[in-house]
Amino acid sequence: MPAAKKTFWIETFGCQMNVHDSERVAGTLCAHGFAAVERAEEADLILFNTCSIREKAAQKVFQRLAQFRPLAKEGKQFGVLGCVAQQEGEAIFQRAPHVNLVAGSASYPRLAELIARLEAGEKRVTGLGSAEEAFETELTRRDHPFRAYLTIIEGCDKHCAYCVVPFTRGPERSRASASILAEARQLAAAGYSEVQLLGQNVNSYRDPSPARLSFAELLAAVAEVPGLRRVRFTTSHPRDFHPEIVRVLGEHETLCDHVHLPVQSGSSRVLAAMRRDYTREQYLERIAAIRACRRPLAITTDLIVGFPGESDEDFAATIELLDEVRYAGAFSFKYSPRPNTASGAWPDSVPEAVKAERLMILQRRQQEIQQHDNQSFVGRTLEVMVEGHNPKLGQWIGRASTNRSVNFTGSGLREPAAAALPIFAAPLRPGDYAWVRITKAGANSLVGEQAAAPAAAGRAMWKSR
Ligand code: 5AD
Ligand code: SF4
Repeated sequence: MPAAKKTFWIETFGCQMNVHDSERVAGTLCAHGFAAVERAEEADLILFNTCSIREKAAQKVFQRLAQFRPLAKEGKQFGVLGCVAQQEGEAIFQRAPHVNLVAGSASYPRLAELIARLEAGEKRVTGLGSAEEAFETELTRRDHPFRAYLTIIEGCDKHCAYCVVPFTRGPERSRASASILAEARQLAAAGYSEVQLLGQNVNSYRDPSPARLSFAELLAAVAEVPGLRRVRFTTSHPRDFHPEIVRVLGEHETLCDHVHLPVQSGSSRVLAAMRRDYTREQYLERIAAIRACRRPLAITTDLIVGFPGESDEDFAATIELLDEVRYAGAFSFKYSPRPNTASGAWPDSVPEAVKAERLMILQRRQQEIQQHDNQSFVGRTLEVMVEGHNPKLGQWIGRASTNRSVNFTGSGLREPAAAALPIFAAPLRPGDYAWVRITKAGANSLVGEQAAAPAAAGRAMWKSR
C-alpha cells in the first residue's frame, strides 16, 4: 500500500500578495507529495503566512501559534512564513519554541529544499535573506476558480518612512513581460476570466527583458489576451501613475473601471515627512488626469492617521482631501511604528486616543461620501461578476467592474448566447457575468435585481464554459 500523503494547512494574513504567495507555497507543497486539508487539526504541517505591516497584524501570528501549540504534542510541525518570518527571523524560535520552519518570501524558490530538511528530521529550519529575482513558479494552487492573481513585480524601492515592506519583501524585481503574458494566456485558457496584476507598486513595473514594455504597454497587452474579460491591478503608487496609464485605461474595456491610489495623507507637510515623493497638489493632478479619462473610473485609497507630528491642521487637510476627491472607497489605519523603518525610531507623538478619534472621524466622513455618491447608481444597470449566493438572504453576491460589491435577486439564470433563446437560459454560477439593475445603494454595497443586458452593451453577454 502506498504511504499516506503528508498533509498541510495554511492560514494567510495580510494583502493579496500574501494570498497569492500562499497559493504558490501550496502548489509547491502539492507538487512534493503533500495534500492540503481544511482544518489545522488534520494537518501534519501547519503554516502561517504572516503580515507585519502594522503591530496588530504581526501580533496575530503569535496568538495563533499559542492557540495551536497543544497540537505540537501530537507531532505536528509548525511553520511561519512571510513578512513576520523575514522581520523576526530566528527570534521566532525563542518566542514560540514549537515552530520548526521560519521562511521569508525570498526563500520560497527554495521551499521544497527547506521542507525536505524538515522531513529529514531537522528540528529548526530557516529560509531568510534577500531575493535577486522575481519568484517564478508554475506550481501554483489557485484558490479562486475564476479570478487569478498574477504577480508582475515584487518588493519595493520607495522606502516610505513608516513602511516595513522594503525590509520584509526586499527591493523591486519585475518579471519579464513575455513570462507575464504567457501566464495570462495560460490563465485565460484555463477558464479564468478575471486577472489581477499584483505588485507592491504595480505601476513601478520595469520590464527586465529587451522588450522593455512600460507598465501601460503591459496593461494594454494583458487586456488584449483573448478570453480575459476583466483585468485589475493593484497597488499603484501616485508618483509613477503617468498619464499614459490613464490613456490605456480609456482604450481597453477589459481593464476594470477602478484605480487604487493610496494617498496616505492630505497634508503636504506630512507627505514630506512620510517620504511619499509627492505633494498634495501633485497627487491631485494625478486624480484630475484619472477623472479626465474617457470613461469614468472609481478611485479608492489608503490613509494613515496619527503619523508622528500630524497636527489638527494636517488632519483637517486629509478630511478636506476626502471631500475633494470623493473616493469610492478607502482603507484607513492608525499609524503603527514598525521596526527598521525611519519613523519607527521617532517618537510616536500622536496619543492613541487622538489617533482613534481621527480614525473615527475620517471613516465616518468617508462613509457619508460613499452613501451619498452610491445613490447615483440607483436605476442604472451594471455588469456584475457573480461570486456566490447567500441562501439566507436569497441573494446573489457579485462585483461590478468598479470593484463595488453588488447583492442581487432574480431568476438566477444567465444570458443565452443566441438572441433566439429565452432571455435567461441557464442557471447562474460563480464566475458568470450577469446584468443587474440597481434599486438601492448603501455606503458599502449596491443592491439590485437581475435584468436583461442594456441594448448598448458592447461586450459578450455571457460566459461560455
Ligand atoms: N502604520 C499604519 N499603516 C500602515 N500602512 C503601511 N505601513 C503602516 C504603518 N506603519 C498602510 C498604508 C498602506 C497600507 C497597505 O497599509 O496605508 O498603503
Ligand atoms: Fe510601503 Fe511606501 Fe513601498 Fe507602499 S510604496 S510598500 S507604503 S514603502
